[in-house]
Amino acid sequence: MEIRKATLDDLKEIAAVEAECFPAAEAASEESLRKRLSVFADHFWLLFDGDKMVGFVNGMVTDEPDLSDEMYDDASMHNPDGKWQMIFGVDTIPEYRRQGCAGKVLSRVIEDARKQGREGLVLTCKDKLIYYYAKFGFENEGLSKSVHGDAVWYQMRLKF
Ligand SMILES: CC(C)(COP(=O)(O)OP(=O)(O)OC[C@H]1O[C@@H](n2cnc3c(N)ncnc32)[C@H](O)[C@@H]1OP(=O)(O)O)[C@@H](O)C(=O)NCCC(=O)NCCS
Repeated sequence: MEIRKATLDDLKEIAAVEAECFPAAEAASEESLRKRLSVFADHFWLLFDGDKMVGFVNGMVTDEPDLSDEMYDDASMHNPDGKWQMIFGVDTIPEYRRQGCAGKVLSRVIEDARKQGREGLVLTCKDKLIYYYAKFGFENEGLSKSVHGDAVWYQMRLKF
């Protein structure tokens, strides 16, 4: 298993993994992923088993302390010198789940954000995954204002 950063050439495979992992209302569209890759491909961490992409984590960097829905489709909000590494999505394709794949990628993302001198990382998740992110040091800050996919989201923050 190898983790590497993305380029625009990875778009199709990233979009396929995203569509496999999230319901249509929550999955980032190929167009949205294209915009993100054009601006912050170096904030996509891709996990490969040989030449097969099995998962990835992505998100912009910003000084905004809270993750808002507008960030998902507005890559221009990315600020490479920002304080917070946002996490927009954590994806592992179904047949590779429960083998530590997401954990491996998340640990790398956290390590990179620390090395880059960020203040920390911010994500939103459904209540069923709060315990999972807590294992990495994320703290639950309560309900997020997000209405993404008409679901209820909690915001979690890992502060260095
Ligand atoms: C959530 C998601 C990313 C987790 O991916 P994953 O690669 O299965 O994650 P991990 O393997 O690191 O951890 C999942 C569980 O497997 C366990 N696990 C890890 N390695 C294991 C192993 N070798 N054997 C058995 N279990 C293992 C972990 O401890 C964890 O268990 P827990 O739920 O009891 O804490 C994945 O299910 C997914 O893509 N879901 C759909 C998209 C989604 O909801 N993403 C998150 C939204 S923010």
